[in-house]
Amino acid sequence: MKGIVLAGGTGSRLYPLTRIVCKQLLPVYDKPMISYALSTLMLGGIKEICIISTPKDLPVIEDFLGNGQGLGLQFTYIEQPHPAGIAQAFLLAADFVDNQPVTLILGDNIFYGDYFYGEGGFARTVRDFHSGGCIFAYYVSNPQDFGVIEFDRTGRAVDIEEKPQRPKSNYAVPGLYLYDGRVVDVCSALTPSARGELEITDVNRAYLERGELQVQQLGRGTAWLDTGTPSSLQEANAFIEAIEKRQGLKIACLEEIACNQGFIDRQQFQRLIQALPECDYREYLERFLRQSDAAV
Ligand code: TTP
Repeated sequence: MKGIVLAGGTGSRLYPLTRIVCKQLLPVYDKPMISYALSTLMLGGIKEICIISTPKDLPVIEDFLGNGQGLGLQFTYIEQPHPAGIAQAFLLAADFVDNQPVTLILGDNIFYGDYFYGEGGFARTVRDFHSGGCIFAYYVSNPQDFGVIEFDRTGRAVDIEEKPQRPKSNYAVPGLYLYDGRVVDVCSALTPSARGELEITDVNRAYLERGELQVQQLGRGTAWLDTGTPSSLQEANAFIEAIEKRQGLKIACLEEIACNQGFIDRQQFQRLIQALPECDYREYLERFLRQSDAAV
């Protein structure tokens, strides 16, 4: 499985915060927003990751993340000249996808909970995925702001509508999607919507109409936060701060995840620590190393 982080867009709802720094590099408590999206792919066991952003922001993101080698990852960077829709990601990254299964995550979405951090959840979904598409359904109070799934009485998904005025359910589609390699052909056949974008909802509908779309519900024990407005960004900050302080464990600590996933060994982990200045983040990694040594 390959991964794509879509981290472009306009970020107009966060203006003027996003006038100089792109949304995905804004802080969510103690780390840049894009770390959360990357962490989700890594927790799924995904190592080959393409990052898509605007011509202006891509070099800054690349400066922050590098080539991924330090984390045992392989990053590819691709420009999106204009924000022409989420589904355009697959056309831009067609060579990267190379007919393989691929997971797309939006760079401003945060997922947290046992489904992602525990055994047998998202990692298994990724491992067991072979063909078709797989999306998630999450109960929200404001479905009209998202793609919304309609279920029949048996719980089978029958339709998906983009930002409907009268939503048929409270189940929104979060920004995390798994597709087989045919997604590039599906996107090639799309026409832009009324707002001039290639819509991810149209991709999902295409798979649904072929009877090849799996919809998994993310339960109440899972947090899905999006960070596109000043108040949702503030809420995400407060959420991450509360959980991290309570547990003394970091969410989306890429170095820790790389080590736990076996993407890097102890020496590589130590090298990552040595590259950091004295700071709380470094202390956290040093403590993690001591504790994992003690556990051996
Ligand atoms: P949105 O939040 O829908 O758009 P935006 O980030 O441009 O923000 P605003 O509406 O405030 O102007 O995008 C969701 C995510 O997808 C976000 O991480 C940006 C990314 N995106 C792209 O990278 N390219 C695109 O063409 C679109 C539509 C979104």
